[in-house]
Amino acid sequence: MDKLLIQGGRALSGMISIHGAKNAALPILAAGLLCDGSLNINNIPPLQDIQSMIQLLRALGVTINTKNETEIVMDARHITGYHAPEALVKTMRASILLLGPLLSRFGQIKIPFPGGCAIGQRPIDQHLLGLKAMGAEIYIENDWIIGKSKKLTGANIVMQLTSVTGTENIMMAASLAKGKTVIHNAAKEPEIIDLANCLIQMGAQIIGHGTQKITIEGVKRLHSTHYHIMSDRIEASTYLIAAAATRGCIHITDINPRYLQSILHVLKLTGADIEIFPQSIRLDMRNHQPRAVNIKTAPYPGIATDVQAQFCTLNAVAKGSAYIEENIFENRFQHCEELIKMKARIHLKKNRAWITGIEKLEAASVCATDLRAAASLVIAGLLAEDVSEILNIHHMDRGYFDLEKKISQLGGQIKRISVQQKMIKQEVFI
Ligand code: EPZ
Repeated sequence: MDKLLIQGGRALSGMISIHGAKNAALPILAAGLLCDGSLNINNIPPLQDIQSMIQLLRALGVTINTKNETEIVMDARHITGYHAPEALVKTMRASILLLGPLLSRFGQIKIPFPGGCAIGQRPIDQHLLGLKAMGAEIYIENDWIIGKSKKLTGANIVMQLTSVTGTENIMMAASLAKGKTVIHNAAKEPEIIDLANCLIQMGAQIIGHGTQKITIEGVKRLHSTHYHIMSDRIEASTYLIAAAATRGCIHITDINPRYLQSILHVLKLTGADIEIFPQSIRLDMRNHQPRAVNIKTAPYPGIATDVQAQFCTLNAVAKGSAYIEENIFENRFQHCEELIKMKARIHLKKNRAWITGIEKLEAASVCATDLRAAASLVIAGLLAEDVSEILNIHHMDRGYFDLEKKISQLGGQIKRISVQQKMIKQEVFI
């Protein structure tokens, strides 16, 4: 397993661009199963999760040609099976996004229960509720989801809680169902808007995407199109938080600021000077310590749970004390234990992390437990003057492309050490 060595103590400064959104690309790749022609997708982020989804689709017989690092052409007309290989499904929870398209287009699916992960149980009852309402027969047998359906029919679906991939699965299934489907209490994330826009370009009839009520009029077929994936608002937020925590000044390009409203509002509360441009954002926190801010995660347009860990690190070096409340996942504070190894002053109580800021963190060897925890530990490494070591960085590779290169571009000292390399810390940053 590779690891990262980071020599902290420098403020980040400079300009970087943002890659395509992982959480938009994953459902859009699954939506390619609905298309009875070729689907050309570009601005795909070259991430591990994307490679896993491509492998999964190929295992079902979908032809996928990668035109370059960020563009693919896929064709699901000659799919050979509906049985998703267990090993591939278990590596990535987003494989649940195959459920709606396979049932809707091909009338059957057999997929292992994706199961929980480090941050929580991750149940799929809302996905199943919606698909059953549309006429699918789905049952769980020995940890496998087995589903079959004649032609799905539109339904009036009231989700009992807002689920991002639950909304996406139902919206995809409804696109080829017979009749109208209305999803009430739908999730409003920008990635759902991006998926809907891609489906509409393929001929789907969808209105209300981005609101809590989405109406889909089923059509007979979905045709070829070219689609450009939106930029990754979570990657963008991560670099902005890193710049604020290190008291730097960065300009991030290829990002729509509209999708970061709540996060930019919080960063202004920490004392950052923020300038918004049509497709870029500039953050300046030079020469002053960020102020601690209280944060409560919530479904969009609230503060995303996917930036909670990064804000914990910022509060760990902020002026004053504040709490961070996690309201989406039941076990998403594992990074706090690692931050405490770096002398962060954090006290966990129920779903709140109470944090008192200190001037600097201390270098340590820490372990990433999930994708966003990895990001929070990279930021922490940048804040500790000596060399920190971050293990299990395969988690990070699932959601951040070229992170070392981008951090180095911004003046950070960071090196990836493969397990074969036996370098001692002191040699790395001479
Ligand atoms: C999506 O996960 C994202 N993943 C997550 O990003 C993100 O953290 C999450 O939405 C919340 O914004 C993708 O889009 C691939 P949910 P998802 O269904 O859809 C409960 C990252 O770091 N729930 O919105 O799986 C669930 O347990 C990842 O990029 C049910 O109870 O999340 C959670 O507490 C991590 N039953 C809450 O709802 C269900 O059927 C929100 O989950 C579905 C969900």
